[in-house]
Amino acid sequence: MIEQKLNELYSKFKNELAGVSDRAAVLNLKSLYLGKQGPITEILSNMKNLSIEERKVVGPVVNGLKEKIQQDTDAFLQKLEIEEINQSLLKNKIDLTLRDSVLTNIQNHGGAHPVWAIQREIEDVFLSMGFDIIDGPHIEDEYHNFEALNIPADHPARDMQDTFWFETEARPGKFRHLLRTHTSTIQVRGMKQRRPPFRFIAPGKVFRCERTDASHEMVFHQLEGMLVDKDVSVAHLIYFMKTLLSEIFKREVEVRLRPGFFPFVEPGFELDIKCLLCKGQGCSVCKHVGWVELLPCGLIHPNVLKSGDINPQEWNGFAFGLGLDRLVMMKYAIDDIRHIHSGDLRFVEQFKSY
Ligand code: PHE
Repeated sequence: MIEQKLNELYSKFKNELAGVSDRAAVLNLKSLYLGKQGPITEILSNMKNLSIEERKVVGPVVNGLKEKIQQDTDAFLQKLEIEEINQSLLKNKIDLTLRDSVLTNIQNHGGAHPVWAIQREIEDVFLSMGFDIIDGPHIEDEYHNFEALNIPADHPARDMQDTFWFETEARPGKFRHLLRTHTSTIQVRGMKQRRPPFRFIAPGKVFRCERTDASHEMVFHQLEGMLVDKDVSVAHLIYFMKTLLSEIFKREVEVRLRPGFFPFVEPGFELDIKCLLCKGQGCSVCKHVGWVELLPCGLIHPNVLKSGDINPQEWNGFAFGLGLDRLVMMKYAIDDIRHIHSGDLRFVEQFKSY
């Protein structure tokens, strides 16, 4: 009689357990059956009404049931816990293969602009040759752009570079502001920050107030370089420039020097490279000369060293101003500088590296 009742109770419990799905409901069910008000406790407390013989039989059966309910709820709780862990693992999973399988199929990711990419490449070459990389402001004063570079006011060389001036009033004893026309402005800033011997490069944007055409832009990029040491000669200058150009073009390049006038160098040069496209035979890129003008440079003028508080009797050096846009044009055979800053995606997308 009592055994049958207990069996019914157990199968009722099993049915109810199958219907619950969360931890709170399982715990609730357990206390409903095993708690103080529950049927098992009630049966146990009624045992005193049974005979000793009956108690011997019923006791273990009730205790067995109690244990089974306990075990069943424990097993159920454990199952729930494993499910929860599995689910959170699935949800927080990091798929390390995603980049290859998904991202490379996306056509519209960004890429390095060719001017920026070539700048980084040149920076690496100079870093490996012991140069620092320094920076300077776009808005400059006429002291750093001209005066300190041996171009005093009213010097005709000021007209070599068409300048964007700021409309601030000229005050006596005050330098006017302008957008730097070349990165040579950083020469004096760099010299004043360090004592010789030293070497640094300074890449950046420069601005000229001029009409644009296939080879002229109002905003373009230069990379200034300066080395100050003892007994520096033109041979050193040529060595560094050849090393740089061979690294960039990934082959031996032939260079030649022509005299060039820049008030801040003496002697001053235009360094040409033999046209890489026609190998000197003459083509549209080299304007049928066989050589491409690439790099104005020279030995630093003593007056410029003095502007940097350096004694020209003791130290000398070389400086150069590499045009980065021109270099990109040469490297990729681009015939119009205006493409470079057109913002035309069809142009820049050709340079995506992956
Ligand atoms: N600053 C010069 C220019 O922009 C280039 C240059 C730099 C020439 C350094 C000589 C030495 O034209």
